[in-house]
Amino acid sequence: MKMFERSGDLQVFLDTHRSSNKKIALVPTMGGLHDGHLRLVEKAQSLADVVVVSVFVNPTQFAKDEDFDSYPKTFSDDKILLEGQSVDALFIPSKNEIYPNGTLSNYDVGEMGGLLCGASRPTHFNGVAQVVNRLFDIVNPNYSVFGEKDYQQLLIIKSLVENNNLNVLIESVSTQREIDGLAMSTRNKYLGNKDRQKAPFFYQQLSNAKTAIEQGDSTEFVMEKTLSELRVNFEVEYLEILNANNLTQIATNTSEIIIISAIRLGETRLIDNIVFRRPNV
Ligand code: PAF
Repeated sequence: MKMFERSGDLQVFLDTHRSSNKKIALVPTMGGLHDGHLRLVEKAQSLADVVVVSVFVNPTQFAKDEDFDSYPKTFSDDKILLEGQSVDALFIPSKNEIYPNGTLSNYDVGEMGGLLCGASRPTHFNGVAQVVNRLFDIVNPNYSVFGEKDYQQLLIIKSLVENNNLNVLIESVSTQREIDGLAMSTRNKYLGNKDRQKAPFFYQQLSNAKTAIEQGDSTEFVMEKTLSELRVNFEVEYLEILNANNLTQIATNTSEIIIISAIRLGETRLIDNIVFRRPNV
């Protein structure tokens, strides 16, 4: 695995592959890697000849009172994992390399950027769009792969690509879960023992909500029941049942739906979702 700190050096490496018609896939990460990230790498390897993984804890997607400083930094473990996965190139840029002209951002993340996670983290998706756009600029990949746990992020990146006519195909991988159902996340490292034991109830309640909808219960009833059950263990930031294609309210003929939620467990914020087809719609 080659390691690059400078965009120019990475570009020289990628250009030699591009000139022999090799396809390139990018997996952007903030490090703190877990099995979920490795599934993204596998997907990238199934799509392209050369896989680049970036590790950059992007300051613009954290608000001032968030966990930028304490975000898990596990670089030597990350490197071992990526080498074990036969990744071709690891890109570890500095802040200056990513933001040579400063971090002012005015990306239009649309209405969707202000909903759900965007309501409680108003600058978050703007920062994500800024860094992803910059990484696409540097790497110029044919494909880029993201996880479905960050479902709203995935839709926003797809619309960024569409609105700016970027020449990259966005692919996604389903949420990887621990044996007890908890969605894999770098932030799970923040959970103490007691909270770690409670955390799987989050996915369990979302799964129960899915089953209830599949059995014909109304979304209003399911929302209310799930909210009150989630509140037993968590502080609920939001819980919504929406059209999975665009995160708008569901209509009678909406078949692809998403149950999506963010909760707090002590100091830790967790997000999760389930996407499924409503029967008989
Ligand atoms: O999902 C993440 O880890 C980050 O939001 C991303 C896409 C790497 C941008 O910093």
